[in-house]
Amino acid sequence: MTESPLSLPLDWNTDAIVNRREAFYAATQRAFVPYQTPQIFKRGSGQYLWDQHDRRYIDLLAMNVCVSVGHAHPAITEAVAQQAGQLQHSTTMFYHPVPAHYAEELLATMPSEHDWVVHFTNSGAEAIDLALLMARSHTGNIDFLSMQTAYHGATFGAQALTGISAFRHNVPQLTGIKFVAEPNSYRGVYGPEVEPYLDEIERVIRLETSGALAGMIIEPVQGYGGIIAMPQGYLSGAFEQIRAAGGVCVV
Ligand SMILES: Cc1ncc(COP(=O)(O)O)c(C=O)c1O
Repeated sequence: MTESPLSLPLDWNTDAIVNRREAFYAATQRAFVPYQTPQIFKRGSGQYLWDQHDRRYIDLLAMNVCVSVGHAHPAITEAVAQQAGQLQHSTTMFYHPVPAHYAEELLATMPSEHDWVVHFTNSGAEAIDLALLMARSHTGNIDFLSMQTAYHGATFGAQALTGISAFRHNVPQLTGIKFVAEPNSYRGVYGPEVEPYLDEIERVIRLETSGALAGMIIEPVQGYGGIIAMPQGYLSGAFEQIRAAGGVCVV
């Protein structure tokens, strides 16, 4: 009989964690290390995190905006524990009041003039793939614009929209995706003004696409690109061009 790997004792030693990650993680998930020394967190509370040596940090990223109400929020901890003790999974082929209730509450926060519905996803990358699929099937167009230095995820669609070589596998990527420069006010390739970046969108649509767009995806504040807000006028100027070419805008 083989021994269960689950019997491994949990080891908080930095080298042990780093070595296991190097040995057992897929390359794509090893690549996202935007800091110089390995950072390990053991617990969190509110806006604070503690590492394995009990040093405290302020989490200014909210774990990439996933922990939007702070770490270990008591109401969330209690609700998760209660549900986990009752039923841990119910596939979408069965009916359950909680997701349906959540969908209604979520839609109540959206502008009232539209007939919204919810499509739940498990990850950011899955949401990006869905957005690309919806944009193409809704518009009937193929060509889609994305931005250099944008990270959108590790799935096939999301990596094809990612403008960073380290996250793009050496395989034929999805077709119909064109990249434009990010309008970075501090280090942008065309300088701090908005116009050259909007001109590039016009040029790329005119020269590198069919002229009919499915859409464009923009992070209004790029994460991997430096957490710098897009300059005033870029989003509205970009959206105007994308919509004029028949595309939808994904933010
Ligand atoms: C802007 C952005 N989009 C998409 C993703 C992918 O999300 P996930 O890792 O949940 O697939 C990330 C992850 O960091 C992200 O920062």
